[in-house]
Amino acid sequence: MTKPIYFSEEKSEEAVISRMDRGKVDPRLYAVVASLVKHMHAFIKDVEPTFDEWMAGIQFLTKTGHMCTDWRQEFILLSDTLGVSMLVETINNRKPSGATETTVLGPFHVANAPRLENGANISLDGKGEPMVITGRVSDTSGKPIAGATLDVWQANEDGFYDVQQKGVQPDMNLRGIFTTDADGRYWFRSAKPRFYPIPDDGPVGKMLRALGRHPYRPAHVHFIVAAEGFQPITTHYFAPDDPYLESDAVFGVKESLVVDFVRIDDDSAMRRYGFEQPFWEAECNFVLAKA
Ligand code: BEZ
Ligand code: FE
Repeated sequence: MTKPIYFSEEKSEEAVISRMDRGKVDPRLYAVVASLVKHMHAFIKDVEPTFDEWMAGIQFLTKTGHMCTDWRQEFILLSDTLGVSMLVETINNRKPSGATETTVLGPFHVANAPRLENGANISLDGKGEPMVITGRVSDTSGKPIAGATLDVWQANEDGFYDVQQKGVQPDMNLRGIFTTDADGRYWFRSAKPRFYPIPDDGPVGKMLRALGRHPYRPAHVHFIVAAEGFQPITTHYFAPDDPYLESDAVFGVKESLVVDFVRIDDDSAMRRYGFEQPFWEAECNFVLAKA
């Protein structure tokens, strides 16, 4: 008969962990809960909260839960703004060197975006400065991948996704799925993205303000790139001239994901792409690792 572990400050985590019936608990669940208890107790011993501080923490988490609906996941925003989503993302996407780096999916992806021909213009509201995005999808040896799909989405000139402004923006504004040609190439027309705030009217926004942080994400275009026989990647490419590039509210920026945005004001290039005004051009290439 093993001696029971009574609760004390010194042995608090052991007292809790030893209550689990190790032989009956799924080993992964045991490991996860034991680690959670250890780290939470270490945190409490480090911070030594007063009762009022502990209650404020409980109330913050309660409000975070109350803010969640089918359309709004405040806990994911909390995870995003504390860098936890990016850490999970990065751990689960350790790639062989040479593969394009990944970043957060975010809450604004829509599963059934329209499949479009190369060259299509996804800016259905015509707002903002025109932009052309071109690129190539290849494997880690540089060989082009034909038939790869690129699911793309971005916010409009006002900093909102179509799903945030139903009835204001056309449905499927700034979304589409493109397919690479025999040389692994794709291209489409769009609008230059702009920085935007993550939803900050709930407890997470309040937390950011209390911490002297802003809610902005630097201008970016989202991509999910997939091809048969390769690991799909979820990533963004970022504009280089953005004021929030070094302080993304969700820590999504990786240096390799910042590309040049070149302003073109040459008449013949404008005509070639069907634009009546100067436009921006970015080359967004992707390297996929074998599945
Ligand atoms: C986004 O880029 O769409 C996004 C990512 C994380 C939180 C909010 C928005
Ligand atoms: Fe985004």
